[in-house]
Amino acid sequence: GDETSTSASGSAQEPAAPGAGSVKQQISNLVALSLRATVPEVDVEPIVEVCTGKFGDYQCNNAMGLWSKVKGSGTSFKNPNAIGQAIAKNLPACDVIESASVAGPGFVNIVLSKSWVAKRIQDMLVNGITTWASILPVKRVVLDFSSPNIAKEMHVGHLRSTIIGDTLARMFEFSNVEVLRRNHVGDWGTQFGMLIEFLFEKFPNWEELGSQAIGDLQVFYKASKQRFDEDAEFKDRAQQAVVRLQGGEEKYRAAWKKICEISRNEFDQVYKLLDVQLEEKGESFYNPYIPQVLEKLSSQGLIEESEGARVIFIQGHQIPLIVVKRDGGFNYASTDLAALWYRLNVEKAEWIIYVTDVGQQQHFDMFFKAARMAGWLPDPKEKKFPKTSHVGFGLVLGADGKRFRTRSTEVVRLGDLLDEAKSRSKSELLQRLTENGKIVDWTDEELEQTSKAVGYGAVKYADLKNNRLTNYTFSFDQMLSDKGNTAVYLQYAHARICSIIRKSNMDVEELKVSGNISLAHPDERVLGLYLIRYAEIVEEACTNLLPSVLCEYLYNLSEMFTRFYTNCQVVGSPEEPSRLLLCEATAVVMRQCFQLLGITPVYKL
Ligand code: ARG
Repeated sequence: GDETSTSASGSAQEPAAPGAGSVKQQISNLVALSLRATVPEVDVEPIVEVCTGKFGDYQCNNAMGLWSKVKGSGTSFKNPNAIGQAIAKNLPACDVIESASVAGPGFVNIVLSKSWVAKRIQDMLVNGITTWASILPVKRVVLDFSSPNIAKEMHVGHLRSTIIGDTLARMFEFSNVEVLRRNHVGDWGTQFGMLIEFLFEKFPNWEELGSQAIGDLQVFYKASKQRFDEDAEFKDRAQQAVVRLQGGEEKYRAAWKKICEISRNEFDQVYKLLDVQLEEKGESFYNPYIPQVLEKLSSQGLIEESEGARVIFIQGHQIPLIVVKRDGGFNYASTDLAALWYRLNVEKAEWIIYVTDVGQQQHFDMFFKAARMAGWLPDPKEKKFPKTSHVGFGLVLGADGKRFRTRSTEVVRLGDLLDEAKSRSKSELLQRLTENGKIVDWTDEELEQTSKAVGYGAVKYADLKNNRLTNYTFSFDQMLSDKGNTAVYLQYAHARICSIIRKSNMDVEELKVSGNISLAHPDERVLGLYLIRYAEIVEEACTNLLPSVLCEYLYNLSEMFTRFYTNCQVVGSPEEPSRLLLCEATAVVMRQCFQLLGITPVYKL
């Protein structure tokens, strides 16, 4: 067959087991059954949302749309409200729904059964939070994130990409989607000519060098660039080095490998600190595929000659996408086309996601369109998969409102930044523990682990909680504050729940099996309902590629817990067993959120 045709099929999916999927999915399934009974002649998707009003927990908003489809067709329904009434009446009898009522032009308000909500929470406590995984219509995702450039700076933008990408990966993985975590490092290109020549010049014994010997690669890059700009003879040699490297000459390949290895070691240190897994498939990996991919595009008549370069003209764009430069070399775009081809046809990914700053949006837009022109990707209106998405994010700003920099260097060393977050959180912790006379309860090891979890978590959360498209201001003071929507505040909230559970003299593990959750008090019911929304929140965050959705949920959850805890006495009350289980469930869900955000939860603070 034609290899360029995409082989990953659409949303092939086994029917979900009853009770599987998010609450919203389950309500949607029930609504779908009712719709089939109510208007068998119309094929319509259920529209189910969380209720904003006080008359229900979820609502079905199908009636108005249905009315405009069936009115005038001899239907027996008189108005949208009548359709709503019928939808409510035709909901199958089950233990999920307590009651359904109709408001205004046919909104069906659905009230969930308290005992079903309680049972769902208790099931989760017994069988684990993985039973709350949502069901997504994809099986395999390629997630291209972090992707710094060899020997150039790994800047805060790459930190953002790493943090956002890792969270997306974790959320998909939690939803049982296979994620190919790809580090598309910039390990190819003309800059290697000067780097290699400079290496030969500075370190005649370069072959024996350990990975630390060159010292700072960014400094090395700058120095070689300076040499390149100032010395014509060096520049000449550097340009020849590129040719010799690309021609595969042994010595040049070896030097290139050496430089990549040194860079890789530096990157890996940051990934280790952040606890991020990535598989490197750099630009060079796709190099051998470029000629054949361009050949195919050419034979489809998509590539044209323009001012000596080979380009693809794309509707809606003034400038064409250059795929072969005037000097005959390949570029960022040709590499990305080959990589996309590989991801679709060899890796058979259904969804390919790229995490970079919004500045690259045009690049992605253009080569996505080129892929669509080539028939690699379906028309987004027709079929959902395979598809590509660019996850763009804004700049990181300093307190001065300009691009974030540290005092000493122009670029920010990521390792230093994480270190500072950790040491700041450590001194605050020490001070507080000393003031409270609690310092004696802590081992050095505990102090160290906790400040690391809190400090690193603060950096990650400060980034993730924002709408990723907006610029955000990096401020240690803000992110390490224990008030407001910060990771520190959330860590405290979680640790406090753990301490409530520790202080009660009941055995929670035993309670999970023998106890019963009752949601009699209104604040208990609100908390319970919010807990079981966990799965649909992850589902939404994955579908829209928005980690901030999960952050918002986590923050709201801790607020709801506070309200519950303020109004419902836990320890020493007759309801203690049930309420302890609610505490435990909240802690479990919070920990799982932390987990997905790449933050290590602390149990004592
Ligand atoms: N190396 C690029 C940069 O630092 C990011 C690469 C993103 N991935 C891709 N397939 N283009 O800006």
